[in-house]
Amino acid sequence: MAEATMDQIVSLCRRRGFVFPSSEIYGGLGSTYDYGHYGVLMKNNIRSLWFRTMVQERDDIVALDSAVILNPSVWEASGHVAGFSDPLVDCKTCKLRFRADKLEDAHCGRKPSKRPGETPDCDLTEARQFNLMFQTQVGALQEASSTAYLRPETAQGIFINFKNVLQLARRKPPFGIAQVGKAFRNEITPGNFLFRVLEFELMEMEYFIPPAEAEKWHRYWIDARRQWYLDLGLRESKLRVREHGEQERSHYSSATSDIEYEYPIGWSELEGIANRGDFDLTQHTQHSGTKLEYVGEGEERYTPYVIEPAVSIERIFVAMLVDAYDEEVVAERERTVVRLHPLIAPVKAAILPLVAKNGDMVAKARGLFEELRKRHIVEYDDGGQIGRRYRRQDEIGTPWAFTIDDQTLEDDTVTVRDRDSLAQERLPISGVRSWLEEALDRPWRTPKQ
Ligand code: GAP
Repeated sequence: MAEATMDQIVSLCRRRGFVFPSSEIYGGLGSTYDYGHYGVLMKNNIRSLWFRTMVQERDDIVALDSAVILNPSVWEASGHVAGFSDPLVDCKTCKLRFRADKLEDAHCGRKPSKRPGETPDCDLTEARQFNLMFQTQVGALQEASSTAYLRPETAQGIFINFKNVLQLARRKPPFGIAQVGKAFRNEITPGNFLFRVLEFELMEMEYFIPPAEAEKWHRYWIDARRQWYLDLGLRESKLRVREHGEQERSHYSSATSDIEYEYPIGWSELEGIANRGDFDLTQHTQHSGTKLEYVGEGEERYTPYVIEPAVSIERIFVAMLVDAYDEEVVAERERTVVRLHPLIAPVKAAILPLVAKNGDMVAKARGLFEELRKRHIVEYDDGGQIGRRYRRQDEIGTPWAFTIDDQTLEDDTVTVRDRDSLAQERLPISGVRSWLEEALDRPWRTPKQ
């Protein structure tokens, strides 16, 4: 089929309860979403696969979970109070606010129709800088001294814990600290579903290195992170690495490369890999008076440089669904099938009694279900015709279905149906558990071109 559109993904997510617009019964709130059952399961999978690769399988990276609300001095020192902003313009006629560097995406409230690429026909003010951090108040008093911020990145929580983790644990660069947690940004041109939202789950790792090794490790992490997406089945033709120009880089970065995915909105940032140099540790040393440096044997003492791979679960979630979404005609009937990597798929297997009214089949199917659910997210379904039940599972990306039929009652074998090839084979019911474990361990490549 043609590439999936964002509308198809939004509609699938809503229809099958992956994602709902937030606060819907009150008219919603732009660019905030709630996750339903399958969305939660899929996000859990993305998070735990990231954690497995970045922490569990490495000797040189440990985990951290820092607070969302930090001492406001952190954001002064990090440069976010002064520099984490977008240039905005207001329209004096329609009163809408647009990003000055993205006017081609803007739509005038009075004259919403325009040709692609045109800027809105508005009476625009000069551009002003608008800070993206959400402000809040700590304590009961609303006064300037109690102003705090919701973190726009988790990285600062890592930098301010540098001494706790690296020095106390007597670790030596290269050494990394990884963190997954919510981040908040008052984005002015939000939209495009989960791609740009006000709150998102950021997965970041700060890799502290000797300054002379910065280029080598930057390259290493760009390659490693790109490979991670390929191993999880994203099509190579839809991934590319793009280096930021000087104007584009964040205030803390001396070099950044994005891993981009070709979303329905065009090539856009999936993950950023930045060389932050010693900017953050130096800033926090100066502002806090606490020396954040590596002290080694003898005379060895330096402020490490930092390489930072950072990505939100939301951007991976959309990329995976777009890449996996497929429609095809099988036996003259259309099916929507979501060809997710089995480790990303919310449900690993469905257990289906062929005839729901047959008590013996139901008992066998329930027995298998109870056995498998102890280790995996699996689903039991006896509602409706078997063909419909397969299609329901195809649509949420379940890679395998085990069906209990007449023959099961005779010889204790079941069929296993493959979501992608539709091939079926028989195996003993007692071997299903180990078959599933092995299938989940196998490398997987998408059949999509
Ligand atoms: N600490 C580095 C940092 O925050 P960033 O490029 O601003 O860098 C990192 O953000 C990643 O967070 C991006 O590559 C993207 O995956 C994700 N991201 C950023 N803003 C987002 C938003 N409004 N909604 C969803 N994901 C977002």
